[in-house]
Amino acid sequence: MSEHEDLEKFAQALQEQILAQARLEYSEAVIERWINPRNMGTLENPDGYGKVTGICGDTIEIFLRMRDDIIAEATWITDGCGATVSCATMATELVKGKTFTQALAAVSADEIIKRLGGLPEAHLHCAQLASESLRSALADFLHQQKSPWKKPYRKT
Ligand code: FES
Repeated sequence: MSEHEDLEKFAQALQEQILAQARLEYSEAVIERWINPRNMGTLENPDGYGKVTGICGDTIEIFLRMRDDIIAEATWITDGCGATVSCATMATELVKGKTFTQALAAVSADEIIKRLGGLPEAHLHCAQLASESLRSALADFLHQQKSPWKKPYRKT
């Protein structure tokens, strides 16, 4: 076996060990979204933008693109933990294709936690952060509707 193959085998074993450890604490739905985050990234000139920093000091930013009152795109970026990545993914999954009102009702912390199959007590606030960030982006969208001339001047 070559040195390169040895190294690859070692990396794979290490990854499996980390995953086995994570499975003791987190559901498959959470872990799957850590590994394959959806809707990650920014949107240029979004119709709704929210940025919230949680009690732990981590931040989520949400970007919304609306089309005929439907959320056509919802994306996020974060400097937070793996659970935050899963919560932000789930929050954007929950609102895509929904109207403003449906999205507002759909994106509670409880719903994110439920859809993720639960979170450890110490990470419940990650769902709260994702929900608040998304609601902040929805509020921004509403604000832009009322004052569209302000859109070019806001900071994202
Ligand atoms: Fe800070 Fe997850 S949001 S630990």
